[in-house]
Amino acid sequence: MLKVSGLTTGYGKIQILRGIDLEVPKGEIVALLGGNGTGKSTLLKALSGLLPVWDGTIEFNGQPIHGLPPHTIVRAGLTQVTQGKDSYPAMTVEENLKLGAYTRSDKAGIADDLDRVYEYFPRLLERRKQLSATLSGGEVQMLVIGRGLMASPKLLMLDEPSAALAPKIVMEIFSIINRIRKSGISILVVEQNVRMALLLAGYGYIIRDGVILIEGKARDMINDPDVKNSFLGGTVANTSRDIKA
Ligand SMILES: Nc1ncnc2c1ncn2[C@@H]1O[C@H](COP(=O)(O)OP(=O)(O)OP(=O)(O)O)[C@@H](O)[C@H]1O
Ligand SMILES: [Mg+2]
Repeated sequence: MLKVSGLTTGYGKIQILRGIDLEVPKGEIVALLGGNGTGKSTLLKALSGLLPVWDGTIEFNGQPIHGLPPHTIVRAGLTQVTQGKDSYPAMTVEENLKLGAYTRSDKAGIADDLDRVYEYFPRLLERRKQLSATLSGGEVQMLVIGRGLMASPKLLMLDEPSAALAPKIVMEIFSIINRIRKSGISILVVEQNVRMALLLAGYGYIIRDGVILIEGKARDMINDPDVKNSFLGGTVANTSRDIKA
């Protein structure tokens, strides 16, 4: 579905990504892991068309998308939920959600997707008329994921959906991410919560200094001593049942 080959990019003259190869198969969750400042958000920005691609290719559903403007990429079905939980605080929850459908004109489809978002996140339904400034951190995260879904994506890219959230809310959000996958939407999730991400995903990549250091099946990576030593720092509890329930 998504195939990235030899991708390089950066800011101004500073190179950040130094040849990234990565794939997201249809209907799968792929985790992109790595420490602070390793280039994870930069990669998502390049995939979304927010940063120019210096070299390499990005194919989506067999079509090259590198060099296309962001709205064209969204319309093709690739949507990013950005890091930083940015909602429009002076707008209501529902207004925020509707903004996610900015590239669409199919009114009936938009209404259906709004219902689906409220079904995933009943708390957003309860708060639909509330200004998003008044939401909790977990609710804002639900809102930005919901807004991403309003674009009717084929592939949803999530930048650290668990950041700064309590474990219970993280479980809730990860289980919704799994339901979104089951509905047929592929997912690329950037995470620092390595253990949780590898329990959720089918495949994982670890990025360091702008290159992919380790990749493999998530199941194998959880038990890989190299991965463990660099990220996990201990044993992995078996909570996959809770996430994947
Ligand atoms: N707008 C920018 N201009 C210049 N340098 C930037 C810009 N945005 C990010 N960088 C630099 O690019 C590098 C990679 O940043 P990036 O945001 O991709 O990291 P990350 O892996 O997402 O980290 P984190 O986990 O902290 O979000 C960092 O060294 C950062 O300082
Ligand atoms: Mg980041």
